[in-house]
Amino acid sequence: MALYSEKVMDHFRKPRNVGVIPDADGVGQVGNAKCGDIMKMYLKIDDGIISDVKFETFGCGSAIASSSMATELIKGKSVSEALSLTNKAVAEALDGLPDYKLHCSVLAEQAVRAALEDYETRRREQSR
Ligand code: FES
Repeated sequence: MALYSEKVMDHFRKPRNVGVIPDADGVGQVGNAKCGDIMKMYLKIDDGIISDVKFETFGCGSAIASSSMATELIKGKSVSEALSLTNKAVAEALDGLPDYKLHCSVLAEQAVRAALEDYETRRREQSR
């Protein structure tokens, strides 16, 4: 059996939503100290809906595929739906990851959460 699923390879070779949103409403950056990979997520949110999402990942193929899949899973979703995104859902949508690569999907979950937290913080500050 191949180490990586077709979907992992597809999202690694043709990652969706790569880039930067200069006027993002929320930005989150996370890293894994062990492997050194870094993921940055940008969100545009209109009326509580994620209207656009982009990412930059400096890391392994599984991290790139995981961030790409995570952006697809949250685009068009509400903030609360995006908050409930789990690494398990990302890995399942990719038709699985090898055990020792599961932390790459954890990074995607954390990056989405960090960007949503940044969005919430900005909103709180604006309403003061
Ligand atoms: Fe660490 Fe993939 S090896 S994120």
